[in-house]
Amino acid sequence: RIAGPCSLVIFGVTGDLSKKKLLPAVYDLANRGLLPVNFGLVGFGRRDWTNEQFAAFVEENVRAHSRTPFNEATWRFLSGGIRFVQGNFDDPAAFQRLSDTVSELDRERGTQGNHAFYMSVPPRAFPQVSKQLRDSGLAHSPSGAWRRVIIEKPFGHDLESAKELDRVVSDVFDPGSVFRIDHYLGKETVQNMLALRFANMMFEPVWNANYVDHVQITMAEDIGIGGRAGYYDGIGAARDVIQNHLLQLMALTAMEEPVSFQASDLTAEKTKVLSAVRVPKDLAHHTARGQYATGWQGSEKVIGYLDEKGIDPNSRTETYAAIRLDVDTRRWAGVPFYLRTGKRLGKRVTEIAVMFKRAPHLPFEQTATRELGQNAIVIRVQPDEGITLRFGAKVPGTAMEVRDVSMDFNYGSSFTEASPEAYERLILDVLLGDPPLFPTTREVELSWEILDPIEEYWATLGQPQPYRAGTWGPKEADEMLARDGRMWRMP
Ligand code: BG6
Repeated sequence: RIAGPCSLVIFGVTGDLSKKKLLPAVYDLANRGLLPVNFGLVGFGRRDWTNEQFAAFVEENVRAHSRTPFNEATWRFLSGGIRFVQGNFDDPAAFQRLSDTVSELDRERGTQGNHAFYMSVPPRAFPQVSKQLRDSGLAHSPSGAWRRVIIEKPFGHDLESAKELDRVVSDVFDPGSVFRIDHYLGKETVQNMLALRFANMMFEPVWNANYVDHVQITMAEDIGIGGRAGYYDGIGAARDVIQNHLLQLMALTAMEEPVSFQASDLTAEKTKVLSAVRVPKDLAHHTARGQYATGWQGSEKVIGYLDEKGIDPNSRTETYAAIRLDVDTRRWAGVPFYLRTGKRLGKRVTEIAVMFKRAPHLPFEQTATRELGQNAIVIRVQPDEGITLRFGAKVPGTAMEVRDVSMDFNYGSSFTEASPEAYERLILDVLLGDPPLFPTTREVELSWEILDPIEEYWATLGQPQPYRAGTWGPKEADEMLARDGRMWRMP
């Protein structure tokens, strides 16, 4: 579906997210023919730029980061609707200029008063920007056109601040017009989880505590914190990634079949899972934290977290976090969900591994099954998106020997269509007014309820355990699983 006439205003347009993801995504949508001819793109920022200078900035980032090849005709169409508004968030006159600019786009490009505001800014700026949008009359349209606001995570840093943030935003915008982006929900394989589970017959019957031993959800990154010290220090891996991306992946893995894929039905099921999550009492044994130390990433020597520019040399911020959660439902009773994430790990990979119980009886000699592990369904979110089934097969030969083998579905080889970037899909959904893939306030709050006690416990501890960059995290994390008689998968 193609979006209707509208403009997209980006606050924080010179930031990293905007340069690498948002602007390229807008361009890719245009290139795929999914934006209307009546489309405007407005950047709001402090720099003293003309429209032309801003357009040159957009072009540079589009050329560097977009997925689709650069196309002159697309660029001509898009750049005709590009505007820049210079100003500070505390300056009402700047918002008046913004209001004039979008009105001008309404007249010149036919955007019809429909405007989406993307807050790619730190949460502390939300209240001010929201208030300015309200006071300048931009938050609501007198003519009934739509106004939507897109909020990026982090949605607060604990339950209390998340509620406060929500109060501020809902004071200004109607509930249906607030979209909280969790870009993991826009990823192809995450969506394919719904197809895998609910379009097939053979997975759902074993997707429960009768057959599943445990689930491992891993989001590993090889990068360090790069230039994001200001954002990351004091936040850490759990708030940055577990509170949002990993809990959403967990909810999709564990939820019951929704009545339909409409927003309210999907949300109802995800919310039920999050409400049923139990945080272990013994947090010392069921959580682990780490902080990367100097090490090697391939052939490159990299510095430790505490030596990164802008990081407090005594920082206790974790760059690795692992936690065990349980889901108190009939389907999942007794099946732990292990969630882990980290920076500067062995490689970049995100996967959901559903690990099955061992067969209750193996009619083979013991030596025959030495190399037989647990059956597994592994959903590879990225890179190399696809699904792997692991099971035992007979080793060819006269002896009876069973060993693990893999059966692979790989997006790249099964489909010729390239999957859109997560931000493309999500921005398009906002412009279309389709909310199914956005977490609701309730989900955000439940996720903080899960994380808060863990963060409170961690705050009483000293330095996280160091791990060498390029390895798979601190020993503590291995010990955490070993205590349960299990091991982390090596993705
Ligand atoms: C962001 C986190 O939400 O996701 C970053 O703030 C992380 O720390 C990023 O690097 C990873 O996203 P992706 O899509 O590259 O897996």
